[in-house]
Amino acid sequence: MMFEHKSVLLYETIDSLNMKPDGIYVDGTLGGGGHALEVCTRLGEHGRLIGIDQDSDAIAAATQRLKEYKDKVTIVRSNYENIHGVLNELGIEKVDGIYLDLGVSSYQLDVPERGFTYREEDAPLDMRMDQRNPQTAADIVNQYSEFDLYRIIRDYGEDKFAKNIAKHIVKAREIKPIETTGELNEIIKGAIPAKIRAVGGHPSKRTYQAIRIELNHELDVLKNSLDTMISLLNPGGRLSVITFHSLEDRIVKTRFRDNENPCICPPGFPVCVCGRKSMGKVITRKPVVPTEEEISENKRAKSSKLRVFERI
Ligand SMILES: C[S@@+](CC[C@H](N)C(=O)[O-])C[C@H]1O[C@@H](n2cnc3c(N)ncnc32)[C@H](O)[C@@H]1O
Repeated sequence: MMFEHKSVLLYETIDSLNMKPDGIYVDGTLGGGGHALEVCTRLGEHGRLIGIDQDSDAIAAATQRLKEYKDKVTIVRSNYENIHGVLNELGIEKVDGIYLDLGVSSYQLDVPERGFTYREEDAPLDMRMDQRNPQTAADIVNQYSEFDLYRIIRDYGEDKFAKNIAKHIVKAREIKPIETTGELNEIIKGAIPAKIRAVGGHPSKRTYQAIRIELNHELDVLKNSLDTMISLLNPGGRLSVITFHSLEDRIVKTRFRDNENPCICPPGFPVCVCGRKSMGKVITRKPVVPTEEEISENKRAKSSKLRVFERI
């Protein structure tokens, strides 16, 4: 299957990096290499791009897409959480820009065997971004306690019916393990009142998001990586992050704000005594969002937000 994915906020993101032709840049979520290709076209003779992705299909697709620029590009299969180690291995201490385009690619969603989509009825419950991980979505659905299922569907799916969905899952798996997306969809459908189902989006949408976030530790990885990424930037270097839902966006907004103003002195103190120094400034007071035109051409762009931080 072709790696089909339309890059979101493409020019806004690459422009936000204020690229220097001979700089070193890191794409932490390489995917099919759409953003990376645009970076490559702007690199000069000594410029370099390091592309990281944890998905072997993305690595293969990006390697093919960027082959014209292979002398400037290094592709590494890893979690962006390991960015420090990845750069260390390559003998790179600091970089001039890092960007993340979070979540899953359209390719991952479109391939039924990956189990990311509720739109398939007969796919395995997989949802691993890194196929080397032993745990799958089926393990979460079949092994988590009712409370833990409720907690993740409530916190990561923000679903009003989290409690009922968790209850229905546990009841169903007492009869037989839940193995396919179709089986899970039926269970979720039964847990949401028909009146709500008729007006809301797909009943499974929020539960799938929750399981995917939990399985791939998406929020913890993001939370744990942003400070490191900022510390790896040269002065003037930028970190640009595209998020797709409020849970991610809140983390980025908060980490950026805390890096801009890390002081923890009580508000009434005349001078700072905590000694924490600002790491830089937030460039985007308000996030950059897609144009109506982009949204009309790419539904995935609808909820996207870009935030940018610049290192002092
Ligand atoms: C939205 S796609 C990126 C698309 C890419 N920007 C493009 O234009 O083609 C997100 C990619 O990030 C990868 N990904 C998500 N979280 C990751 C993480 N923590 N570490 C490494 N890769 C990750 C996914 O496997 C997926 O391929």
